[in-house]
Amino acid sequence: MNYEQVWLIGFSGTGKSRLVRALAAALDWDAVDLDKLIEERAADTIPAIFRGRGEAGFRALESELLEEVAQRSRVVIATGGGAVLAASNREAMRRRGFIACLDARPETILERLQKSGGDASERPLLQGGDALGRIVELKAARQALYRQADFIIQTDDMTPDQVTHQVLLAFRERTAVAGSTA
Ligand code: S3P
Repeated sequence: MNYEQVWLIGFSGTGKSRLVRALAAALDWDAVDLDKLIEERAADTIPAIFRGRGEAGFRALESELLEEVAQRSRVVIATGGGAVLAASNREAMRRRGFIACLDARPETILERLQKSGGDASERPLLQGGDALGRIVELKAARQALYRQADFIIQTDDMTPDQVTHQVLLAFRERTAVAGSTA
């Protein structure tokens, strides 16, 4: 089987949006940031979508657009941290895609979100004080789903370039293996 997509999954602040551009450039594929696509289609920001439609409304839109992107070829996609929650999303990613999970410790995640100017209001699910506690709790609840990736990389002590390199290596290795046994 030849992969037609690379999907990046993982919690907020693990570097998916940054990696998607570098990977797509290296592969000469298109880059899609699913959260940005959602904002474009809804003509609204993610916090506003959560306020107006609730988390369920956001998830419905997320699934619809994820399915749409899953039809495309030669594309690298950064998903939102909760995209793994729906079984149908996981199936759509797996159909023709290589799935890489970016991981980081909760403390690293909090630090990165704060550095990127991303206060909690950008991430509706991290609102309501004790952001570190929310990260620990949400991440633990999702960890079994993140672990289903084809490749998992611990990014805490790595530069973005190193992460890009490692994901590319893993992808190329798997593509070669899949190609030779097809
Ligand atoms: C979410 C993560 C966000 C965004 C939305 C919900 C989540 O994406 O999709 O706020 O459920 O973890 P990032 O992972 O890019 O922050």
